[in-house]
Amino acid sequence: MKPDDKVCYCYNVSLRKLQNFARRERPAHASRMSECLGAGTGCGWCIPILRRICEAAGEQPPEAISDLSPAEYAARRRAYIAEQKPRHTFD
Ligand code: FES
Repeated sequence: MKPDDKVCYCYNVSLRKLQNFARRERPAHASRMSECLGAGTGCGWCIPILRRICEAAGEQPPEAISDLSPAEYAARRRAYIAEQKPRHTFD
């Protein structure tokens, strides 16, 4: 994925916006990543990625997505939605 690709599909939040937020705000808890345009407050799919971006303080794309194409990432989200498993959480 590239910096302008979406990480949070529910709120159209890009990797670049999330990394800049994490770098600037240095959130003490991953749940604060939701203050970046509501990321993670919809379906919950992106929460594990938001957690990794937070932990890296925005310095590098998390390995979990850096090698994924936007199409692969979107397909995995569609599968997450279709499976109707319990929603990812920040805790
Ligand atoms: S993709 Fe981020 S909350 Fe749904």
